[in-house]
Order: sequence, then structure tokens, then C-alpha cells
Amino acid sequence: MAANSARKLLPFFIVIDEVTTVYSRAELTWATEATPRAIFNLHPRFWGWVKGEGTVGGVLADMISASLNINVCTNVHSAACIEKAVINWMLQVFGFPEENAGGLLVSGTSIATIISIATARQRMLVNVRNEGLGNSSNLVAYASTETHGCIIKAFQLLGLGSDALHFIPVDETFCIEISALRTAIREDREKGLKPFCIIGNAGI
Ligand SMILES: Cc1ncc(COP(=O)(O)O)c(C=O)c1O
Repeated sequence: MAANSARKLLPFFIVIDEVTTVYSRAELTWATEATPRAIFNLHPRFWGWVKGEGTVGGVLADMISASLNINVCTNVHSAACIEKAVINWMLQVFGFPEENAGGLLVSGTSIATIISIATARQRMLVNVRNEGLGNSSNLVAYASTETHGCIIKAFQLLGLGSDALHFIPVDETFCIEISALRTAIREDREKGLKPFCIIGNAGI
């Protein structure tokens, strides 16, 4: 390459050099600062929380998802099709009728809980989206004492208030006591309250 042409390319080489330096620094920071401060849930049999375990499959899936960077605003692309397929599997697994059941994939259990309780609230108060809660503070729901704290937050966020969530005791296997649940529903109805939702827990 003639000296003149090389001189023209000089800024380009400087940029490459800067990028390489920034990349090396980032790698170093990753190894010395970020990795030791991770929360070490990368074991392939780590099932304690809802997040992934950092398996090779998971890493690849995240890489593909980050490269495609698809959102699900429209209905006819791969991400939306995968969502529909996964929801259909869920309908089959849980025995829901495919003709009139459906769902959404969401980012986690807290938002799933908010959407589910909003759906139950909507079924009871058909005009709630236009009229708000108004004087409908007599709605009540039931959950076992072993239920996760995100349920209470959902009641607070949806304007139902956490007092509307009635906790039912569990037996020695941590299952909700059905007789106590029946009694609570009956007594609440007698008081003029409107039971609208029972929240179940699954898993260990
Ligand atoms: C049993 C259970 N329910 C709900 C949640 C809340 O889920 P998310 O953090 O996905 O909103 C968690 C989170 O750890 C959980 O363990």
C-alpha cells in the first residue's frame, strides 16, 4: 500500500485500536469485577428461582433473541408464532379447551399475577375498565398462607386493597385447607362480600 493511502486510512486504524482497547477493558472488568459478584445460580440443576440456569441452550437462545431483537407487536412473525405454539402446549398440558382458552407469555410471575387478577376482576365487574372500581370494594379473594408476596402487591396495584385478600390456613403438607376455604367463602357471602377469585399454588 502506498504511504499516501495508508495515511488516509489512519483514522480508521485508530478507531479499530480504540474499539479493541475498550473491548479488552470490558473483558477484564467482566472477569475481575462482574463475574465474582454474580449470584452463582448457574448450576444446570438450579431450579430455585424462576430465572434460567445459564445452560448452553439458554445462552444460545438469549444470543439469538438479542440478535433478532424481535418484539411481539404484530401477529405474523416467528416470535409471535412461538408464543402461540407455547400457549397451545400449555392448554394441552393443563387440559384447557383449545377453542376458547388462550394466554400470554409475560416476563415473570408478578406481572402474570397482576394480569390474572385483573382478568378475574374484569369478569366480576364488566365495566371496570371504563368506570373504575367505584363502590365495588366488596370484592374478596382467597389464597393460602403460603402464597408469595407478589399476590398482595397485585391487589394493592389493582386498587382492590390487600384487605380484600383473605388468607386460608394450610395443612401439614402445606396444602390449603379446603374446609376452611369453604367456610370463609360462605361467611363472606353472608356478610355481603363478593368472592371473585381463588389463588392456587403449585409446586414444592
Ligand atoms: C413462588 C414465586 N412466586 C412469584 C414470584 C415473583 O416472580 P417474578 O420475580 O418473576 O415477578 C417468585 C419469585 O421468586 C416466586 O418464587
